[in-house]
Amino acid sequence: MSEKVTIKVRPNGSIRVTGTADFVDESGTVLRTETNFSLCRCGHSQNMPFCDSSHKTNNFEAPAFSGENQLEGA
Ligand code: FES
Repeated sequence: MSEKVTIKVRPNGSIRVTGTADFVDESGTVLRTETNFSLCRCGHSQNMPFCDSSHKTNNFEAPAFSGENQLEGA
């Protein structure tokens, strides 16, 4: 897979992935492939690792990436 994928961290919400990505296990075996999806970062989704909008009813608060906090330590 070589096409560029965009990852956008939404304020008080999920991580939006635009493009196609493989989900792999520890050995690198592809478990599934998804296109244009949102990952949960609040911990309340009933469909992990995907967002099911549960963050909206659980008052999840977390900043989006911005110029001030993005990718520190990467
Ligand atoms: S971020 Fe949406 S359900 Fe967790």
